Amino acid sequence: MKALEDVKILDFTHVQSGPTCTQLLAWFGADVIKVERPGVGDATRGQLRDIPDVDSLYFTMLNHNKRSVTLNSKSEKGKEILTKLIEECDVMVENFAPGALDRMGFPWETIQEINPRMIYASIKGFGPGPYEDCKVYENVAQCAGGAASTTGMLGGVPIVTGAQIGDSGTGLHLAMGIVTALYHREKSGRGQRVSAAMQDGVLNLCRVKLRDQQRLEHGPLEEYSQFGEGIPFGEATPRAGNDSGGGQPGRILKCKGWETDPDAYTYFITQAAVWKNICDVIGKPEWKEDENFATPPARLPHLNEVFGAIEEWTMTKTKFEVMEICNPLNIPVGPILSMKEIAEEPSLRETGTMVEVDHPERGSYLSVGCPIKLSDSPVEVERSPLLGEHTEEILKDVVGLSDEEISEAKEAGAV
Ligand code: COA
Repeated sequence: MKALEDVKILDFTHVQSGPTCTQLLAWFGADVIKVERPGVGDATRGQLRDIPDVDSLYFTMLNHNKRSVTLNSKSEKGKEILTKLIEECDVMVENFAPGALDRMGFPWETIQEINPRMIYASIKGFGPGPYEDCKVYENVAQCAGGAASTTGMLGGVPIVTGAQIGDSGTGLHLAMGIVTALYHREKSGRGQRVSAAMQDGVLNLCRVKLRDQQRLEHGPLEEYSQFGEGIPFGEATPRAGNDSGGGQPGRILKCKGWETDPDAYTYFITQAAVWKNICDVIGKPEWKEDENFATPPARLPHLNEVFGAIEEWTMTKTKFEVMEICNPLNIPVGPILSMKEIAEEPSLRETGTMVEVDHPERGSYLSVGCPIKLSDSPVEVERSPLLGEHTEEILKDVVGLSDEEISEAKEAGAV
């Protein structure tokens, strides 16, 4: 039995943030019923298509293991069906623009009345406050959540990251809230409202930058490269390039082939515990006793010199050779892996983190599987549903409509 096998999720999510949440719940065994507008569906089905008239990878990679029912929830018949679905399901998840479900006639109070055990989970761009009515996409959240102002090179423009911390990050936060509410319901017998704002989710992931904001009041941030470079700090946590962000200085360094390969780099951490090993590896044994280099505080003003010397060494090795040499010596390093290299990495396929999925219209494609492994509830990744693929079975089995009633609903344009 899968961990969430008896949980029914009414999935009103679209685009990325909400679908990542319900996909995780589906992977843990929940029956996720994705509700989509008849003839239209989730907008991402048609976005960034690589094959004409076929569900995009954008959609297929975010909607595995779900069932799709089409429903016009603004029509009278559609509202009746939705009411029945709310009665039958345990969790309702949505990430519409603020107020959309209220406008549809299903505010939280109504949902609670229909099913007091219902857990109603929402993602919005912002929590209550001046921006609560705004529509929000990934990069807006990265900017408003503090990530962009602290990402990028010192003196350069703010940068958004490729990791979808606003969308997928908030989806993860919401999933955590949902399983917590499910656990609570076991004791209280009642559902509750679960909300996750993208700005809050991004800020939660930028916690260390707020740490630094407060440390700044007590002096310069000595582990930041700009300290050693003599560049004064301003009032806010600055952009720190590839500085480690933790107590062990690190940087991205060139490796053999960097002139032609954009990913021939390694991340190298000068962890204090293995400093002597680092000195030996890079051919600077004298630094072990040198008062300018022997201790972590002594090195802080000299980080450019330290990383310059390490880079002279890494440039003589490939990023994989750096890994092979440093790992046995406990020196923490990591190659900069391109998406191509990750896609071809056999060990990630063996663990199910990367999976090949078959799709009736697009054939086989590669996807990221479930990144969380439960020993008693293994994940089998199944393809995303076609638009409305499960409409009839859901109307019959979950809503309890007869064949005749289903035909009527179709004729009325409700499904
Ligand atoms: N039947 C009938 N109507 C439906 C429907 C269905 N099955 N599914 C959706 N709709 C309607 C909604 O009720 C809404 O109608 P309304 O504007 O009259 O209230 C309409 O479709 C569009 O929904 P909306 O959420 O406004 O879509 P959008 O494409 O304009 O905006 C976002 C997209 C992502 C910007 C917006 O949904 C949003 O800000 N979401 C919250 C934050 C978020 O999750 N952002 C990240 C997304 S990855």
